[in-house]
Amino acid sequence: MVDANVIIQLAYLAAAVLFITGLRMLSSPKSAPRGNLVAAVGMFVAVVATLVDQDVVDYKWIALGAVIGSAAGAVAALRIAMTAMPQMVALLNGLGGAASALVAGADLVSNVVDKGITPSGIVPTAIVLSVLIGGITLTGSLIAFAKLQEVMTTAPITYPGQQVVNALIGLGVIALCVMVAMDPTQLGAFCLLAAVALLLGVLLVIPIGGADMPVVISLLNSYSGLAACATGFVLDNSALVVSGALVGASGIILTKIMCDAMNRSLTNVLFGAFGAAPEAGAVAEGPQGTAKSYTPEDAAVIFSNARTAVIVPGYGMAVAQAQHAVRELADTLEEKGIEVNFAIHPVAGRMPGHMNVLLAEADVPYDKLLEMDEVNPTFPETDVVLVIGANDVVNPSARTEKGSPIYGMPILDVDRAEHVFVIKRSMNTGFAGIQNPLFFNDNTMMIFGDAKKVTIALGEAVRKY
Ligand code: TAP
Repeated sequence: MVDANVIIQLAYLAAAVLFITGLRMLSSPKSAPRGNLVAAVGMFVAVVATLVDQDVVDYKWIALGAVIGSAAGAVAALRIAMTAMPQMVALLNGLGGAASALVAGADLVSNVVDKGITPSGIVPTAIVLSVLIGGITLTGSLIAFAKLQEVMTTAPITYPGQQVVNALIGLGVIALCVMVAMDPTQLGAFCLLAAVALLLGVLLVIPIGGADMPVVISLLNSYSGLAACATGFVLDNSALVVSGALVGASGIILTKIMCDAMNRSLTNVLFGAFGAAPEAGAVAEGPQGTAKSYTPEDAAVIFSNARTAVIVPGYGMAVAQAQHAVRELADTLEEKGIEVNFAIHPVAGRMPGHMNVLLAEADVPYDKLLEMDEVNPTFPETDVVLVIGANDVVNPSARTEKGSPIYGMPILDVDRAEHVFVIKRSMNTGFAGIQNPLFFNDNTMMIFGDAKKVTIALGEAVRKY
């Protein structure tokens, strides 16, 4: 007869393979839904294997937790708006960090107090890391959530000597970690470590502006994986070690991609205090000239002479939930014989893959979504570019204005096309809080209004023309 433990370990191995395969499939929009499913099956296998493990003595509380957790997760997933996804991810990260810290803490207390066993080997270090990283992840994520949900100020909260205070607390945390790792029976020091980790999470995130929160959330996502990985060592659970390491690694890669796409270093995001959300209604100053306002009917005339068009979606399209209207407009233009593609900037919107997800939801074919490097050389030959609720990602000052906060950020070179239409509600700035000279160019025409309403009106005008 095969040992039950061998079967459990094999199930964990299968789960790890499914996680890695699923993650690999997430790298393309085409295979991503299946990748999600494959990884979910992996998680199911890992959960079942853990439940049949002999260490489980009572299923009552597990069943209750599973029912409450699944119900809360399902309701939240169904109700959440796509634009609020970063907040949702922040909460999930925070809860993941909390779970890791609690499990590691419970393991320590039950061993030391109930069983009189002192953890040894790698376990004390793993417990310390779970509680430290998990605690920081919990409160850091809650602050990130509060900033994005605007239940607290989105502006960076700074005070004199802040870095010094954080550094001193950091040194104190290191001392506590060493103390507990060397003698895990010191439960007083352990509780103090947990409290300081929670405080550190708050202090590290409050000085970061609301607009930089997506990068912070991606980093905290990575931390939640590291905390889970450490807890995997505490419980000697290989599935948790592998899944935690995968989340930790992919989170840090995503953080790097987002920083690169904004041409900012992670240090600059974490300590630069950039990204106070622009004041509502802030209009840029500067001798920019006059922007030309067009109607959808005027635009239809220009489209009627076009052969090629590129649509550039941005945050405003997401806010207006205009993706279906945009797909219909693209279909109408194609019916009129115009070749239509979509240009996707890596940080368009407010979360990674924001535009891809929305356009996939509206059934825009994947091969129509062109990435920045692919589409940029085509703009000089493009007849019409239609920018829908995008701003910073098409701001040419990133190429030319050395003092600009977005100088050096790679952008979509839409200004090089023959005609550019920009749909937005006003001359207000975008995420970076700076004006966009594109709007004042000779070949740019503004169509003011809500992205969804204007796109629908434009579709009707093109159809009639
Ligand atoms: P933004 O620069 O934020 O511009 C969006 C524009 O949409 C605004 O200027 C706004 O102008 C317009 N808008 C808002 N609601 C609208 C509506 N209902 N209808 C029509 N227009 C509307 O967006 P972007 O070009 O997509 O750039 C993204 C920015 O976010 C970048 O600076 C990027 O660095 C940053 N960011 C992105 C990410 C990720 S991962 N995607 C993460 C962190 C930061 P009006 O108010 O005049 O309408």
